[in-house]
Amino acid sequence: MSKTSGILSIDQGTTSTRAIVFALDGTKIAVAQKEFTQFYPNNGWVEHDPEEIWKTTVETCKSVLHEAQQKGVNVAGIGITNQRETTVIWNRDTGKPIYNAIVWQDGRTSAFCNSIKKHEDNVSSKTGLLLDPYFSASKIKWLLDEIEGARQLANAGKLAFGTIDSFLIWRLTGGVNHVTDTTNASRTNLFNIHRLCWDDDLLSLFDVPASVLPKVLESSDDFGHTEASLFGRSLPITGVAGDQQAALFGQCCFAQGDVKSTYGTGCFALLNTGNQALKSKHKLLTTIGYSLNGKTTYALEGSIFTAGANIQWLRDGIGVINDAKESQALAESLNYDHGVFLVPGFAGLGAPHWDPDARASLYGMTRDTSQAHFARAALEAVCFQTYDLQQAMESDGIASSKVLVDGGMVANDWLCQFLSDILQVEIERPQNMETTAIGAAYLAGLKLGLYKDLTDIASQKKIEKRFTPNIDESVRQKLLGQWHKAVECTLAFSR
Ligand code: G3P
Repeated sequence: MSKTSGILSIDQGTTSTRAIVFALDGTKIAVAQKEFTQFYPNNGWVEHDPEEIWKTTVETCKSVLHEAQQKGVNVAGIGITNQRETTVIWNRDTGKPIYNAIVWQDGRTSAFCNSIKKHEDNVSSKTGLLLDPYFSASKIKWLLDEIEGARQLANAGKLAFGTIDSFLIWRLTGGVNHVTDTTNASRTNLFNIHRLCWDDDLLSLFDVPASVLPKVLESSDDFGHTEASLFGRSLPITGVAGDQQAALFGQCCFAQGDVKSTYGTGCFALLNTGNQALKSKHKLLTTIGYSLNGKTTYALEGSIFTAGANIQWLRDGIGVINDAKESQALAESLNYDHGVFLVPGFAGLGAPHWDPDARASLYGMTRDTSQAHFARAALEAVCFQTYDLQQAMESDGIASSKVLVDGGMVANDWLCQFLSDILQVEIERPQNMETTAIGAAYLAGLKLGLYKDLTDIASQKKIEKRFTPNIDESVRQKLLGQWHKAVECTLAFSR
């Protein structure tokens, strides 16, 4: 019996690690997921234990590889996609991390980033990013400065830095390969996205020795082979992309002007700008979308730090709801004029404001404010924030008539409809909602020769549902006006 081919995708996200074996047409053969601990050791700090990330990765991979084997599927290779910017430093001799991973949402380096603000134009022209604690460089500096003995070890070439992809590849290949891909490198604040190399000036600005950095490969490339003892045989790792770029790829946003918006822990809207690294005048980021066969595709990105995390806070933080799924019915139980607005600055505010010191605020409560208002305000906020990103993209000269959505939150029809109402564009939801994981699988499959080209990949995609605008314009304008007032008050409070 000839075996069906499959690809293992590792999706290492902010709150859980998932492994999925896909058939080439995108069908899920086997899925495993494990959540892991979030550490908040200080005000505004967020950490993960890299060992727990590694453990959940190995366990989920073993589980799906076993299931795939039982179903007669031959897994040909691995794609990796990951929470971006999150920073790990480990000892090259022992393989042990020197400290927890500092997570992308962590704001501990805010004062340092402010202290070098005068360099922002230079940093931005090279990296496409801004000076913000979100990106890896200031986190690396913090680790080298604050962990005893770290700087000396780094100067002696004993330490390695990686975003999560790089750390996992190092472990999966038994310490043989210290590599990353262009999309992850483009989120560090150390990588020149035009010349496609680490930048010496930036290394000295952030006081990061070149010896800690991984080699940068394309997104569909040879990242090494897993140690045979891990999964019973060695598998090639041939696709890597940061999760938002993987979703861009998984949504088949291959043409200039295509835009996707992913609603996971945060919300990240990426617009394909082709081979041009467009510079935003409205605080969007310029980033690498993917790189294939010597060609770099760039994207403009709007980053919102909390989306699904707002609902998690309602459930786990203050116990207003028991299950995220309740939020749809609660939101539907209210009218447009309920009057409550949440500005979700739980991890500061990202695009287009970039205020790491902003804090979440709730406006418009009365004695009848209930759990329904909280849920609705949390969902609406994500749509209003996407509107602000859309406005920034339009002011940068690119208007899109359609937004492709994905991520856990968009299973909620109410959210998709409200998004369409507020953005006044068509919202398109794919049948396969695993766009991030499938994006990494596509990248891996391309290198393995399992897909001919991008057209072959795009032919696998199916649309599940479209949402079109249906709101009274005066109601929409009123809501947007109130939202913007709430944002202004929130920003004023942090000044
Ligand atoms: O830049 C952070 C991003 O990669 C995290 O994505 O899916 O955990 O919201 P997610």
